[in-house]
Amino acid sequence: MKIGVLKETRPNEKRVAVSPKIAQNFIQKGFDILVEKDAGLASSFDNKSYEKSGAVIVQKDDIFKDADILVKINPLDADEIAKLKKGQVIVSMVYHRLQPELVKKIALQGATLFSMDAIPRISRAQNMDVLSSQSNLAGYKAVILGADQMTKIFPLMMTAAGTITPAKVLIYGVGVAGLQAIATAKRLGAVVEATDVRPETKEQAESLGAKFISVENDNADVSEGGYAKEQSAEFLQKQKEAVNKSLFDADLVVTTALVQGAKAPVLIKEDQIKQMKRGAVIVDMAVEKGGNVELSEPDQIVDKYGVTIIGKTNLPSTLATNASELYAKNLYNFITFMADKDHFHFDHDEEITQNTLLAQDGKVLIEA
Ligand code: NAI
Repeated sequence: MKIGVLKETRPNEKRVAVSPKIAQNFIQKGFDILVEKDAGLASSFDNKSYEKSGAVIVQKDDIFKDADILVKINPLDADEIAKLKKGQVIVSMVYHRLQPELVKKIALQGATLFSMDAIPRISRAQNMDVLSSQSNLAGYKAVILGADQMTKIFPLMMTAAGTITPAKVLIYGVGVAGLQAIATAKRLGAVVEATDVRPETKEQAESLGAKFISVENDNADVSEGGYAKEQSAEFLQKQKEAVNKSLFDADLVVTTALVQGAKAPVLIKEDQIKQMKRGAVIVDMAVEKGGNVELSEPDQIVDKYGVTIIGKTNLPSTLATNASELYAKNLYNFITFMADKDHFHFDHDEEITQNTLLAQDGKVLIEA
């Protein structure tokens, strides 16, 4: 089968779904790789590097004409959907709950659609999990962006001119991004505290050297399938009380809290921002999903009551080389699990297939 690698069309998207190294791996498995001209440039992979791997550089229309499998990071746009041929298979992130119309439109073209963001959180699917691979990098970058806006350094520094005390960093949400944010802030020398609704994260945060702020939760049923559930207003109030002291003392706050299929919980409100230290920085990693911070704005750095709030979207794209390498490896593991060089084996009873196969041969299989 021919795999066509499309150039991303989302504004400011620098990633590409397949790196030259992974192109080579696919070719070794018997697939042919077509890469849209300049698809990898923004990730620092030039056309020559793909050709060296054995891939063929083509124009976009050739991909729609010849490829059996079309791969991308972001969902296909309207122009691309219009070009689809019956029987073509698309593998990309889709976020189908947010855009059910898109799945229907792709199905109408008679195409088959797999969603990389719907991989179940089970151990055998870990090496296909793009949400994890991308969140990990995003957690690192959030701390770096925060550090760049701070007027203080992270580590303890003893100099002849005096001693600088270490920065205090607070992380909301100890999932994949939060753990990497803890590790990055610790490596830079900060004193780190963290909080989460899932009790098992206490040990994980502490193993990286963070102090965990536990919030008493009457609801034992806090998560499902690895995802936190939406918490009650009562819990969020208790969390506020438990964490406020650390929040008002923090130099950098990184918020990463997400709830599947719902808006991100608002964890820091305006009245709390007013009480934070002047010069403190907040990085709201959930800004695209509605935000964990009341005053954050997508792709803006705003100053509110002397606190800088960063709302950068698509952090993985800012580390496009590594993000593309990891996405490509996830995609390779996924496609080689689902198919061989000649065809897909659609096993509708298998869990990864059940979760990711959104449309097949013109039919929508998973409604939003
Ligand atoms: P996520 O991106 O869905 O959420 C981020 C974090 O925010 C989570 O730790 C969540 O508990 C926390 N959170 C949600 N609401 C909150 C609130 N009101 N206050 C404070 N924190 C809140 O989660 P992520 O990072 O994608 O993964 C969570 C866990 O799932 C991981 O730690 C891992 O154990 C598991 N996982 C397993 C995979 C596998 O086995 N294949 C793959 C990915 C994740």
